Amino acid sequence: MGNSIHFEPSIAKSSFLLNLAFFPVMVLVARYFFGRYRQDDHPKGCTKLGLRVQSHLTDEHHKRYHIPEKVPVNGTMKPAPKVKSLWVYPVKSCRGIELEKGSVISTGMEYDRLFCFAQLKSPFPVSLDTPSEEKSNHQWEFLTQRRFSSMALIRTEIWIPDPASPTYSPENLEVQSGGVLVIKYPSMVETGLLGTLSELWISITGKRPEKVVRLPLNPTAQQINEHAYVLEEMKIWKDTPVCLNMGTTIAPNSKLFLEELQAVIGCTNPLALFRIVPERSREVYRCAPRKEVLGWQPSVAFGDAYPIHIINLASVRDVGSKLRPGSFELSSRRFRPNIIFTGSEAYAEDAWKRIKIGGYEYYVACRTVRCLLPNVDPTTGEKHPSEPNRTLKSFRCIDEGDTKNACLGMGMVAASQESEIQVGDVIEVLETGDHYYIKQ
Ligand SMILES: *[C@@H]1O[C@H](CO)[C@@H](O)[C@H](O)[C@H]1NC(C)=O
Ligand SMILES: *[C@@H]1O[C@H](CO)[C@@H](O)[C@H](O)[C@H]1NC(C)=O
Repeated sequence: MGNSIHFEPSIAKSSFLLNLAFFPVMVLVARYFFGRYRQDDHPKGCTKLGLRVQSHLTDEHHKRYHIPEKVPVNGTMKPAPKVKSLWVYPVKSCRGIELEKGSVISTGMEYDRLFCFAQLKSPFPVSLDTPSEEKSNHQWEFLTQRRFSSMALIRTEIWIPDPASPTYSPENLEVQSGGVLVIKYPSMVETGLLGTLSELWISITGKRPEKVVRLPLNPTAQQINEHAYVLEEMKIWKDTPVCLNMGTTIAPNSKLFLEELQAVIGCTNPLALFRIVPERSREVYRCAPRKEVLGWQPSVAFGDAYPIHIINLASVRDVGSKLRPGSFELSSRRFRPNIIFTGSEAYAEDAWKRIKIGGYEYYVACRTVRCLLPNVDPTTGEKHPSEPNRTLKSFRCIDEGDTKNACLGMGMVAASQESEIQVGDVIEVLETGDHYYIKQ
């Protein structure tokens, strides 16, 4: 037994006592974090939107998606594309919500990109008593993960009114506002003793405490009045739609949460959260089918180019296999699609013009030209210095409309203003042809 550890009873006893003394401290710390950041239960009368089970993307790196299987159709082997995973991103550039099924409306998937953070761009800081003519030099401008990659850490939930909920009542404010948007963001590290304790807590539990904010999904006139939400212009790409400003770092009632978010995002200008006004959604032209064809002009809320973005998992797997060795496993989530499908050869979608998904028709309007956003890890918010931008640029500059930029995925417009879509839906290709990217 020469190798056995010599047990020193007095040390054991004292460390036991130390633990015993430390235990209530830990309980207090735990209560402090969970008590402080947890709001009472769930939004009243509502159910949370999204998957109840694990993500349909947990096996997205499996090699079976690299070269898709074919299935026998009338004696010949054919690819069988179908929907693997569905996503909406209620707040532009923040984390999305995975769905089992969803509705498609004229602006794209219901609940997609309804909200957007914006910063007040100005040559000098603005304050409450800044003269109004000086204030008019300032302009709200949308924020994106391209620039502020830690926006990936901001989680979102949508809660929708559900008469089956035990707390449901038509009187609930949550029900009257058509549901609730929940924003969860990492709580910034405190300083001093509290900071030390919180670091200790994080290292033990592996969990960073989050703060939670709830906002009306579709604020009523009364809620707009009460919270002093205002209609204001906000610049997004070349549009300046009038949107509902649901709080700024300048407004007292939303100051705290937005100031904390400024720190999380790393934005020094005043920050605000905007909601699209449905009647002011941004019309889409370029490669989209026109009113004469559809009966209405397609539009988006705060989406970038076209109402729906679809991506082929086989194409993502192929790009992933070409990344510089040792980079990372390329997740389709980096491309922030609404629809991820399997069962087609890589890049088959490049030539799609019209498809049916689960019986509903869609125009495949345009290839998606990729920016640097896919370099951001959607889980950690960290930006990779070169990939996948480098690999995409090396072989995916395929569209004659923009030969300098790489394409992956397609922008789509639904042929009907009301469609349904579900995981497992079969995709049928109705028409293929050429594409030519039209710049913004
Ligand atoms: C298989 O063949 C039958 C008879 O020719 C045809 O009606 C059917 O549409 C075909 N099915 C598919 C999926 O092509
Ligand atoms: C993206 O990749 C291309 C090609 O490798 C490179 O020239 C360009 O600088 C990259 N962009 C950034 C911002 O890294």
